[in-house]
Order: sequence, then structure tokens, then C-alpha cells
Amino acid sequence: MAYDEVIINLDNVRKEFGDFIAVDNFSLKIQKGQFVTLLGPSGCGKTTTLRMIAGFEMPTSGKILLNGKDITNLPPYKRPINTVFQRYALFPHLDVYDNVAFGLKLKKVPTEVVDRHGKKKIKMKRLSSETIDELVTKALKLVDLEELEDRDISTLSGGQQQRVAIARCIVNKPEILLLDEPLGALDLKMRKDMQLELKDMHKKLGITFIYVTHDQEEALTMSDLIVVMKDGVIQQIGSPIDIYNEPANAFVADFIGESNIYNAQMSDKLLVHFLGHDFKCLDDFAKGELVDVVVRPEDVELVDATRGDIVGRIDNKIFKGVHYEYSIMIGKNEIIAQSTKDYPLNIEIGMKIDPDSIHIMKKTVSKNIFTGLSINKHNELELANTTFEVDLTQLLKDSHIDDEGYLVSKKGQKYDLTNAKVNAEVDLDKIEFSDDTSYGQAIGRIVSVIYIGDHYQVIAKSDDDEDFIIDTDYVYNEGDIVGIKIDKKDIKLVLKGDISAYEI
Ligand SMILES: Nc1ncnc2c1ncn2[C@@H]1O[C@H](COP(=O)(O)OP(=O)(O)OP(=O)(O)O)[C@@H](O)[C@H]1O
Ligand SMILES: [Mg+2]
Repeated sequence: MAYDEVIINLDNVRKEFGDFIAVDNFSLKIQKGQFVTLLGPSGCGKTTTLRMIAGFEMPTSGKILLNGKDITNLPPYKRPINTVFQRYALFPHLDVYDNVAFGLKLKKVPTEVVDRHGKKKIKMKRLSSETIDELVTKALKLVDLEELEDRDISTLSGGQQQRVAIARCIVNKPEILLLDEPLGALDLKMRKDMQLELKDMHKKLGITFIYVTHDQEEALTMSDLIVVMKDGVIQQIGSPIDIYNEPANAFVADFIGESNIYNAQMSDKLLVHFLGHDFKCLDDFAKGELVDVVVRPEDVELVDATRGDIVGRIDNKIFKGVHYEYSIMIGKNEIIAQSTKDYPLNIEIGMKIDPDSIHIMKKTVSKNIFTGLSINKHNELELANTTFEVDLTQLLKDSHIDDEGYLVSKKGQKYDLTNAKVNAEVDLDKIEFSDDTSYGQAIGRIVSVIYIGDHYQVIAKSDDDEDFIIDTDYVYNEGDIVGIKIDKKDIKLVLKGDISAYEI
């Protein structure tokens, strides 16, 4: 479907809460009739953005235009926009019909009337009960609830309640429907059904949907356009296919589906080095440039060990219905591959990757991001062949570590984070390199020293190929061996998946 009329234009929008910047530099044009999804991890600013579009929150700076008109300071009730919230906020004492009719009964619309002297006038009048009935019946039909109009809200299932909430919004005929994780409270099966129903409804209604989710699969299946956000900043805007096939950076690649992501270096023009091999590629970067490489598991071709460009050992496998997903170790590096063939564990296996399947991205080095790490039984982070002390309480607000080493929530729920999969982030000025190799936790060799403007960016590589990057005024020489030190308080952890998986 082609869209050619901008309905909402967010122009360089920023939202601050005190010192905290929740949304920054947010510019996005949404076309009339589009299904747009804001996607990103918890706390990245999705709800805040939606609330600014709805008018519940005013931007600190920037503008919001609706059909070309500035609505930045217009109150919510004057915007032709309705919101479906995660908790659907229905009136429990009213039945289905009255919940949907509620807004209409209060609404006044300009109506032509004839006064005593036979003169035509425009008066604000309430809708007639016939009109209300007609509109409510139509809305209930759209969400497939005609049969249930007399039922009490409390007797409905979660999915049915969700549909009432949607009917209540669409009955007002908004130009834009905002949906903030509307399926968050539903179980997986119901979510899938409702995804299809929502998509269908979007088609039938022809209005603009702005949808919020942190579920990448949901975003990929439902949207015309996906906006990937992190820390209040847009990372990429694109169609589901673009975002999946051509992620703009390592964060997007990691967030959208299962990916193999490696720190790599261009060995030559159209030749990139990672996993100990020079691979041909199609992306043109300068020789010597440090880059991120993404390879999707379905693009790793498994072949006989003698025929592979690289060879590894099958460490693990999971049957996923149609194919197997293999975890293959190449030295200390892991690569995830998919195949319909059933290979035994622990054999040597060859791998080939087509140049077209090697996605190379410019390294945007704003901080150190270490991916695919785990926590050991002493609550330490395993990184670069050694361990780093970390503060696990950052993973859960108001939590503490008890005497036995479990993470305990405010309400007393315990979590065992042994073997938990995490990513770790460290700012460029929070790592120290020292000539004294016994200083700090890890050891690395300086592999790159680049002068950027007024300081050096220096990279030390550990012997298991982790890159530690720092901004410094001090000059190091390539080849120097250094001790690497990071303070516990400076390691930011990002848990893969939900913390509830570690409840005990
Ligand atoms: N009224 C407020 N005052 C202070 N901080 C706020 C306020 N509203 C939101 N924030 C902060 O702004 C950040 C973004 O919040 P937001 O609710 O937009 O995130 P989100 O992407 O919707 O996350 P989730 O997926 O968990 O719903 C968070 O760090 C949040 O704590
Ligand atoms: Mg939210």
C-alpha cells in the first residue's frame, strides 16, 4: 500500500523529566492510514512519545503537527486521537454496550435546528439514542462482540475486554488510534489471535495506528513501519524487512531477532575479518576500519568440515519445529546456525556464509557494549577470560542481595541469576588501561590508536577477542600489553529476556 499524506509530524521532539531526558531528537513523519510501531526495550521512551502525541504530556521542546497544523499545546480532548492503554480501564459497573456508548452519550455535535421563527441555526446537541445505537452496534460488530453487548465486563475474558476497549476508542471515529502495549496482559495464544484481529481491523477502518510494543516479533508481523528506540533516541526507522535485513547498528540487530554479532575489521576492500577468517562481503568500507558484522542464523550454511570456510564444534542444539538451531563453538566464539538436518553434538562442522548475508555496519562507538555474557555463581560477570564484580541490584528496582547471594525484590521474591545471559555496557571514560598488567581484572593488547579531534580512542583486545575501548589523552603504542580495570559501579548490565525466568 502506498501512502502519500503526512498525518502526524513529530519535529525534533524532546521530553525532559527534571534532569532526565526521556525522549530526545525525535523526528518522525507518519503517513495517513499507516500502521506504525514504536519498538524498544523497557524505559526507552515509547509511552512518553505516545503520551505526547495524545496530548497527555507536553514536549520540553520540538513540535507536533497534525495534518500540517501545530497541535503541540492542544489539550487531549481537542485532538482527533484515541488511546488504548495496556490496562484497559473499562467501567466495571457498566455492561459491554454501555462501556462503548459512554463517550458518545456525553458527546455534543454541531446540529442544524429550526427555531420557533422557522430560522435554521447550528446548535450543539447530544447524539440521538438511535445514532448512538447505530454507532455502538457497528463498533461491536467490528471487534466481533455483537453477541456480548449485555454482558458484565467482569464476566469477559482478557481478550474480550481488550476488544471492548478498542471498540470504545473506534466508536469515536478517531483519525489516529494509539495503542500502548494493548496485548501485554494476554497469554501467548490470545496475543497471536488478537494481533491478527487488530491487523484486520486496521485494514477495515483505514485509520492510522500508532502501536507500542517491546516484542520484536509482534512489531515485525503487524507494522508497515517500525521505529526502533533506545534510551529515548531513534535507532532506525524502516519497514519490517529493512529493519530485519539491514539493521542500522548492532543494537537493532541484536534486538530484532536472533543474530550473530561480531566485532570485525576490514582486511581489505570488500573483505572483512571475523571468526578468524577473511570473508568476502558486499559492503564497501575502508581497509582497516573497525566494524560490526551481523549474520542471521538462517544464513549460516552448514557443510562438511573439510569444505567449510570456518570450522567449529557443535556444542548444543534445539529442535524448533521445522529446523534445528545449533550453537557452534569456534574457539571461544559462538555462532548460532539453523538447519533442517539433524547433526549429532560435539562433531566438527564446516560453515559457509554467503557475501550477501554478511551485514556490515559502521561501528558507532559511544560506549563499550559486551554481548552474550553470563553471570557466574558468585554473581560475577564473566568477560575476557576473567571475572568482573558487578552490581546485580541494578537489574531490579529497590532490590538487594541477601546473605545467600540471591537477588531479592522489595516484595521478597528471590532470583538466582547464576548463568543469566546479559550484555554489559561501560562508558568510554570508565575503563582504565595500565602499563602494569597486574593492575585491574583483565589483560589486553593495544590493537588500535586513533586520534579523534582532541583525544585518542584506544582499543585493547583481550586474548578471547573482546575489544575494550577508551577515550584518553594518553598515547599508547599498538602492541603494548596493558592491564584493564573497570569499577563495579561503572558496569551497566542489560538482562536478556525477563527477570521472571530466574525466580526461585
Ligand atoms: N512522569 C515521569 N517522571 C519522571 N520520569 C518519567 C516519567 N515518565 C516516564 N519517565 C521515565 O522516562 C523513561 C521512559 O519511560 P517510558 O514510560 O516512556 O518508557 P517505555 O519505553 O514506555 O517503557 P515500558 O516498555 O517499560 O513501558 C523511563 O526511564 C521512565 O522512568
Ligand atoms: Mg510503556
